[in-house]
Amino acid sequence: VFAGIAQAPEDPILGVTVAFNKDPSPVKVNLGVGAYRTEEGKPLMLINDPSRYKEYLPITGLAEFNKLSAKLIFGADSPAIQENRVVTVQCLSGTGSLRVGGEFLAKHYHEHTIYIPTPTWGNHPKIFTLAGLTARTYRYYDPATRGLDFNGLVEDLSSAPLGSIVLLHACAHNPTGVDPTVDQWEKIRQLMRSKSLLPFFDSAYQGFASGSLDKDAQPVRMFVADGGELLMAQSYAKNMGLYGERVGALSIVCGSADVAVRVESQLKLVIRPMYSSPPLHGPSVVATILRDSEMFNEWTVELKAMADRIISMRQQLFDALKSRGTPGDWSHIIKQIGMFTFTGLNSEQVAFMRQEYHIYMTSDGRISMAGLNMKNLPHLADAIHAAVTK
Ligand code: LMR
Repeated sequence: VFAGIAQAPEDPILGVTVAFNKDPSPVKVNLGVGAYRTEEGKPLMLINDPSRYKEYLPITGLAEFNKLSAKLIFGADSPAIQENRVVTVQCLSGTGSLRVGGEFLAKHYHEHTIYIPTPTWGNHPKIFTLAGLTARTYRYYDPATRGLDFNGLVEDLSSAPLGSIVLLHACAHNPTGVDPTVDQWEKIRQLMRSKSLLPFFDSAYQGFASGSLDKDAQPVRMFVADGGELLMAQSYAKNMGLYGERVGALSIVCGSADVAVRVESQLKLVIRPMYSSPPLHGPSVVATILRDSEMFNEWTVELKAMADRIISMRQQLFDALKSRGTPGDWSHIIKQIGMFTFTGLNSEQVAFMRQEYHIYMTSDGRISMAGLNMKNLPHLADAIHAAVTK
């Protein structure tokens, strides 16, 4: 009965790893997926297993994890937390949090249009569309400056219908590595609040952008400090190295404690028919670290080391291209932040580098800086040089 089914294409990001795994070349390099690697090219194990009993969790997940997650992103002294206006539910990493939030909005919010930046993480439009929202775009990245198109962003959000939802990358924008400055964030906040645009933050890289958890959360906290409402999707994949555990949280900052109670009851109705309740192991690991000040400090040191290694790879790649005399201004490699560099290489150059150099990246020219190390970096610089001079 399924004989007529068409072959679906590979995912634009995860499919890069599928192709990489099939390549027998000994010099192959995977710069596709945003997953941290050590200088030796290995995943980094940050923690041991603290969960013992394997009972079901409540629909909303591990309560302590939820509390600690809200505190981590909004700050321990957040007025919204103190006033019990925040409801947090454990979800399946960033994607699951965005999807649950999207489904909730489609059912309970009066406006069904969500504005997402151009470009954005490839999964965003699919998540929101399948949740029942309509995805529209706002200008974000300017290829000419390889920086933020702030005027375009302001123009597009200014003409969005009142009350529209706006997806914002909390820090370390994926795929561009370009974030607004604090001043620009403040202008965005004022504009959004004046038009009652509802912020939906995606925070997948807290701690990875600057190396400081608090600094990376600053834009989000500006939006909470004004007393307004917002949604927040948090992922622990990158900053705790818990990729495969699928651990994250959705928080909704509401107007009052009373509303928060009712919102939580509705979130349970979204989650229960989707996957009943979330898994136990991941949030137990996270809670163990967040509750213990010694482990928390150890974690922040490791997090900073990951961020610093990526920053050093940026400098070294920039230097390697300079020393080869590669045509073009490559300063965006050191200016962009977080896990990715949006190189500006086009899809033909990307295909050439895969074909001739066994280097794998997404077709939009995004490279995961975490996949680089001192050994494979010269190979990448050679490949980029060849691609732009051929
Ligand atoms: C990425 O952008 O590479 C990561 O967020 C992994 C993913 O699921 O796409």
